[in-house]
Amino acid sequence: MYITSNHQHKRARRQKKFLHSIFYYIQHYMLLFSTFHNLTSKSSLCRAFTLPNTKSQFRKSAIMTLSQPSSSTSSSPHIATQKVAKLISSCTPSLQSAGERIRQGLLVSFPTETVYGLGCHALDANAVQKVFLAKERPLTDPLIVHVNHASSALDLWYASSSSSSSKITDADADANDNAEHKVLQSLTATFWPGPLTIVAKASSKVPSIIMANTGFVACRSPSHPIARKLIECSSVPIAAPSANKFGHVSPTKAMHVLDDLGMEDVWIVDPDLNQNDHHEHYNNNNNNNNKNNVVCDVGVESTVAKVEINQEGIGFITILRHGAVSQQDILKCIQKDGLDTVFQVQSKQQSTGDDVNNVAPGQTIKHYSPNVTSFIVSHERYENGEVMSEEERYNLANSVIIDFGGRLESLKEIALAYRDLSAEGDSSKAAANVFDTLRWSETVESANRVYFPELVVEDDIDDALILAVKDRLTRAASGVVVKKFT
Ligand code: TXA
Ligand code: MG
Repeated sequence: MYITSNHQHKRARRQKKFLHSIFYYIQHYMLLFSTFHNLTSKSSLCRAFTLPNTKSQFRKSAIMTLSQPSSSTSSSPHIATQKVAKLISSCTPSLQSAGERIRQGLLVSFPTETVYGLGCHALDANAVQKVFLAKERPLTDPLIVHVNHASSALDLWYASSSSSSSKITDADADANDNAEHKVLQSLTATFWPGPLTIVAKASSKVPSIIMANTGFVACRSPSHPIARKLIECSSVPIAAPSANKFGHVSPTKAMHVLDDLGMEDVWIVDPDLNQNDHHEHYNNNNNNNNKNNVVCDVGVESTVAKVEINQEGIGFITILRHGAVSQQDILKCIQKDGLDTVFQVQSKQQSTGDDVNNVAPGQTIKHYSPNVTSFIVSHERYENGEVMSEEERYNLANSVIIDFGGRLESLKEIALAYRDLSAEGDSSKAAANVFDTLRWSETVESANRVYFPELVVEDDIDDALILAVKDRLTRAASGVVVKKFT
């Protein structure tokens, strides 16, 4: 559905935000009520009552930095104290302390090759709940479990788990599990470590809060050395959504995380702090001594693919979210392993609803939104070079343009501010820049609108990142395409 009136659009956004807040608090109070009955430990109960501090996000000048954390910051569970995030470096002692913190059920935000994650002990339901609370994320939106080795994920998926005693001993079911096991092995062997998240039916050891009660668990093995070292140091699987407030732009820098979660009890790994200490650091530049600590170089979240087999024995691998691994990459992988006779690869169509009950990755169309109202400029408008009215010029003078491949370059002089994700139209550069640029648009003084060009992309294009960028911009604008700057 396209809404072309700004006024209507703003009102719709306000109403949705209000409904989301109500829904969010009802859900969490229901969860807290059940926690009251289920938990025996008094301290757990008190921790469960810690609600997010505030919706307003700002960077605290009092943020402490810690290059070598020495002790946990967990405060007394009985007092609702002010929580302040801490930056830590990525040296080995820091990551060891951060790993210990994860084991204790506390939160650590860390960089991956895609975006920053907000990590916790994946098998500790209490810790997972803290992530939902810190992000203000609805419990209907499941989390990804991060592991270093495929064997750890295979053990969390039903079809490949070693605890097969509880499985049905039906011959057809066995054949399906076997095929699913093979495809999970094939995908993990080909794409891991890297930006592919695989969703499959879960074994009984996975806490249902991570899966939002769907019975399916998502796993991924990040390739970034800091993420891998943290997983190693914690010696547990780490559940980690992107480290932003729910619905806001995903973070690709430690400062982005601080902006969103600065008031939460979280440690944030910031490789830029490394210059202040002389320990071994885990980042992409260990071998070339480059001082720029590259994190989140892919820039958009992992591709999410769901594996399932129906009762007729037909297997599906469905792309739920576009990332750096394409549908064609997955098809080639299963062809290579002779599994394309059982599995079809398909892409899920984007949902147009803004319904938080919709349990699919980032599938609510409003997602990744900057806090300035954003719109997509229809391709007809920018291709036709239509004459601009006085009203449009006036509006553009208070607007930010985030361009791609120079499509809106003619507006550069009229607009308040202008940036191109990649002037030469390079999709990997655009992906690497997109979230930082969306956050930049929020900082442009007196900007009241952001415009992106509509990207017209062929259905069968083999460029995963252009689809990912298009998807993120579409969601940032809540799917609203306009023909006029009014
Ligand atoms: O690149 C990434 O995937 C980053 C980094 C930190 O690893 N993580 C990330 O997490 O983007 P998050 O929670 O922001 O997005 C994961 C998406 C969610 O929208 C969720 O709906 C989907 O994956 N997801 C997780 N578990 C799922 C499940 N069991 N079934 C379907 N979708 C699932
Ligand atoms: Mg996210």
